[in-house]
Amino acid sequence: MHLTEEQQAMFDGANGPELQLALKTLVRYGAAFGAARLVPIKSSHLAGTFAISGLKSYRELLGRLVKAGITVKVPTTVNPRPGCTFSKVNRWLAFPKQDRLEAHLARLGVIPNYSCVCYHDARGPAFGDILGWSESSAVIYANSVIGARTNRNSIMVDICMAVTGWTPEFGLLCDENRKGSILVKLDIDRMDAAALGFILGRVALNHVPVLMNHPFTKWELKNMGAAMAASGGIALFHVLGLTPEAPNLEAVFDKEPREHLLISQKEIDSVRSAQQVQDAAETLVLGCPQMTLEELQQIAPAFSGKKFKRRVIFHVVPSHFEQFKQTPEYQRLVDAGAEFQTHCPLAALSLRSGKQLRGLLSNSGKLHYYLEGCAYGNLQDLTLEAREDL
Ligand code: F3S
Repeated sequence: MHLTEEQQAMFDGANGPELQLALKTLVRYGAAFGAARLVPIKSSHLAGTFAISGLKSYRELLGRLVKAGITVKVPTTVNPRPGCTFSKVNRWLAFPKQDRLEAHLARLGVIPNYSCVCYHDARGPAFGDILGWSESSAVIYANSVIGARTNRNSIMVDICMAVTGWTPEFGLLCDENRKGSILVKLDIDRMDAAALGFILGRVALNHVPVLMNHPFTKWELKNMGAAMAASGGIALFHVLGLTPEAPNLEAVFDKEPREHLLISQKEIDSVRSAQQVQDAAETLVLGCPQMTLEELQQIAPAFSGKKFKRRVIFHVVPSHFEQFKQTPEYQRLVDAGAEFQTHCPLAALSLRSGKQLRGLLSNSGKLHYYLEGCAYGNLQDLTLEAREDL
């Protein structure tokens, strides 16, 4: 791999052993994927915000960096806190070193946004920016909807990028890997973006899917991408006439699509769990990825009005929650019995046991894929289950 003079000096230890380790990690990572050089990044996003025992080595690395007085070289955001929904005791048993982890992140100069939706405010990326992000739902949104460029990096590699300001150039950083490979047509009359993403992840593995035009909202694109990234590891999709690298068929495909897919309403509806499973759910979960202010305001009317018959939890981007609290929709949802959390539902709800393992219903394709005992329903299913009387 070709290194600049500055990179070579860091590789040789001129900036201390911690940055030397970070740089060497990036060089090895890049070499494994055939990268020829390291390129500067505009920002980093870290996924390691759960102080679980499996991430001990990550905390130790952060501790070493902090001790050496190192701070992040580029604006760096972080994933949500883990939190706990059912028992506070579990929180301390599962994440005993959480406070220490967060103290390390603060001393490294990381922005304490604590959200996986790290792209919607002023410091979010712009078209063409090179990023060093982890967190699959954020990566796919940045690539697809914004047109920024990041690979789906891992925990550990993410902090190495943040403190050096470089990433190896391969994969989705390169023009040739950003072209569409499969054309997806829709034969539907009711959109369920998360279910569509869930299906695409399964059938379009190792592809860059290109969807025919549909007027997705930003939050539908967020929820669809997260489901696709979970069920199929996809990190880039395009929507013709909507996302920035897909103005038309000629621009988005190198030549012709290698494959064509037709997704029907029946297939989309098949992701929904059986009615009796949905009816048995005791807790309804929304917000994975966390909900934005716009999303909450758009769906709140469907949930407001009468008292919920079950526990209904909305997981919200922390800064957006502060704004949402100032709106009349917030009070209406509170009056209906809604709960609000700003942590990650996947981490929080993984801490269940016994009877709690059953009885969750979510409109998140990502949560349905990863979380044991989490049934899937579309947004309308959830409003019906929440109010039962509609
Ligand atoms: Fe975000 Fe946690 Fe879901 S990080 S995408 S809310 S699993």
